[in-house]
Amino acid sequence: MVAYKSKMVERITLPSRDQRERALEAAGYNVFNLDAEAVFVDLLTDSGTGAMSDAQWAALIRGDEAYAGSRSFDRLESAVADVMGFDHVVPAHQGRGAENVLYGTVLSAGDVALNNTHFDTTRAHVANQDADPVDCPVPEAHDPDADAPFKGNLSLERARSVVDEVGAERVPLVIQTITNNSAAGQPVSVANTRRVREFADEIDATFVIDACRFAENAYFVTQREAEFASATVAEVAREQLGYADAVVMSGKKDGLANVGGFVATDDESLFEQCKQRAILYEGFPTYGGMAGRDVAALAVGLREAVEESYLEDRIASVRDLGSRLAEVGIPVYTPTSGHAVYLDAGAAFPHVPANEFPGQALVCELYREGGVRGVELGSFAFPETDRPELVRLAVPRRTYHREHFDHVVETAAAVLEDRRDVAGFEIVSNPSMPELRHFTARLEPC
Ligand code: F0G
Repeated sequence: MVAYKSKMVERITLPSRDQRERALEAAGYNVFNLDAEAVFVDLLTDSGTGAMSDAQWAALIRGDEAYAGSRSFDRLESAVADVMGFDHVVPAHQGRGAENVLYGTVLSAGDVALNNTHFDTTRAHVANQDADPVDCPVPEAHDPDADAPFKGNLSLERARSVVDEVGAERVPLVIQTITNNSAAGQPVSVANTRRVREFADEIDATFVIDACRFAENAYFVTQREAEFASATVAEVAREQLGYADAVVMSGKKDGLANVGGFVATDDESLFEQCKQRAILYEGFPTYGGMAGRDVAALAVGLREAVEESYLEDRIASVRDLGSRLAEVGIPVYTPTSGHAVYLDAGAAFPHVPANEFPGQALVCELYREGGVRGVELGSFAFPETDRPELVRLAVPRRTYHREHFDHVVETAAAVLEDRRDVAGFEIVSNPSMPELRHFTARLEPC
């Protein structure tokens, strides 16, 4: 059931086909280079692109801009304590700022970090410490058709085999990303989180949860994990996060804010170390690179993110988009995640080989056909990793309505009809950091 009505609107327009064609060419066939005004339905990301509530806007006006000791920070601390269960918060300008603070504190050169799947900024921050990011997804994570409730889980078998290979002393960090964004946004069970906690204890590693989408994950747990069938989302969230030594958070996702992030922990020594590094990179520890007003909006958003009616509405609308796309014949990764529909471009365009980026071909076709912007998360974004050729259509929170999704479904159906003519791409300008190339590289049709 819908949980919102609109209070403010923003005009959008669909540029002509000719304008879209020219925009795509000028962007080097990389949709990150498009002007947002040239996009009709923007499903590039669910990060910082959602609509804030009236309560958040009210908090924004009352934000305290004090450099030190801001009242808005007190509000954030108590929201983090109530919603996530941690006493100490180190604020950061966004999730990757928090990643730099935490991973720069925990990792040294030559270390190995284990994760169900590293998100691109996580992978880059681990690599930036001269450490090695190793993914440990469960085998079904990369099977777009497998029907399993928690395809985001971390494979303990794989994690143990890495530890056997490199030695426990080289693995000071185990991360669980909930939901597992780079594995089609699939959720992680609390049972898996418990086992990862035990494993981290066995090898004496710090256990971090990347909590960007912790509320969506908790919702799936209430729906799919028998033990939590009668628990509330808020209860599950606290229980699951409670197994971690620390969380790293992007407020731009389940903080329902446009910017912000933090590290939260109960570990005094980790807190002190993170605080020092945060002063260097983010700002004084009561604002951390955010304006006081943004801290205030985040504090309210965190509480709204675990409201059942909000989550029911959100998860249902994303699931609905997924099933309607599947109905018109688009190969869709199943089950649908909480924040995005992932399309299987490899199956949609079997004639385009992986080294010609079928996912990027689908992204370009969706824009060309209907001004819809998605993002490639296959061989282009993740070079040298073995994964399906996925395209993510991420749904900004509380922003788009059924009519927008009608347009997305019609666009995708039209793309599918002309699929034979679709060609692949080659990269013509390649940025220096391979983990980040998809943000700025330019391409040309083959
Ligand atoms: N971790 C995960 C799992 C993420 O999905 C993101 C961001 C980050 C960390 C970094 O947070 O953007 O606030 O610096 N994901 C966005 C996305 C960008 O589109 O999935 P950030």
